[in-house]
Amino acid sequence: MTGTDSYLQSLLLANPLQEPVFRRVVRALNLPPGSQGLDVGCGIGLQALLLAEAVGPDGHVTGVDMSPEFLVYARDLAEKAGISEQVSFLEGDMNNLPFNDDAFDWVWSANCAGYAPGEPLPLLKELARVVKPGGSVIILAWSSQQLLPGYPVLEAHLNATSSGIAPFAEGTAPELHFPRMMGWFRRAGMEEVTARTFAGDVCAPLSGEIRSTLIALLEMRWVDVGAELSEEDWAEYQQLCMPESPGLLRVLHVFDVSGVGEWVNAFWWGIT
Ligand SMILES: C[S@@+](CC[C@H](N)C(=O)[O-])C[C@H]1O[C@@H](n2cnc3c(N)ncnc32)[C@H](O)[C@@H]1O
Repeated sequence: MTGTDSYLQSLLLANPLQEPVFRRVVRALNLPPGSQGLDVGCGIGLQALLLAEAVGPDGHVTGVDMSPEFLVYARDLAEKAGISEQVSFLEGDMNNLPFNDDAFDWVWSANCAGYAPGEPLPLLKELARVVKPGGSVIILAWSSQQLLPGYPVLEAHLNATSSGIAPFAEGTAPELHFPRMMGWFRRAGMEEVTARTFAGDVCAPLSGEIRSTLIALLEMRWVDVGAELSEEDWAEYQQLCMPESPGLLRVLHVFDVSGVGEWVNAFWWGIT
């Protein structure tokens, strides 16, 4: 499997946990019916479809992403959903968007613009550039999860590893981490800046789809953590979280009978 294929698989696998949260965010945004929107870093188009549904048949959503392979998948998904008239997908770089000024009523970026490395201001200004005056820039970023109910110490240690604190990074200036996004919006000249947090949960009874999502998440979440853990933690982690370990069934069982895990997304919304 290529790197792109496995990334694509990870987007698909995470979706059953993410989609209910995204649907609630989209409802809360109250996007005007018939409006024209842009989904920046649209990936395989999972949210572009939700957004197109929200603006209805008179509206339109353009997805832009730097990966042509993802866009092929996105077009196919739209076709299968029967809404290819209402969405279009284009290759492009969010730092230099291939659109005129004031081209859209709103711009949305989930799990992409919020994680951009480096100085956020030029990017926010670029997003605001393509939105009409009075339109919205909406940025979502995933922030935390609770995947090992009953093992808080192990989970805290795992979350303190380099892979566990992602998408944050040790050594990055505090003001460059996305929970400071309200400041970025204001510095980019946006008004009426709003922030909200939406938590989705995973709890009993687990469907087969959610079980697969959890297995994939455990695999994706803490990568190469061995060197950063104590021997004891590493042994417990291997026992509980490796796909081939019998302990993984215990984690799934906990979710299935009494555990609650969280998938948290925060979103920021500024008016241009
Ligand atoms: C974590 S994925 C999120 C995809 C989608 N928004 C979702 O939540 O399912 C990040 C996406 O951003 C795209 N991306 C990263 N940097 C980009 C850039 N500079 N311009 C356009 N797209 C970019 C990647 O190709 C990838 O599809």
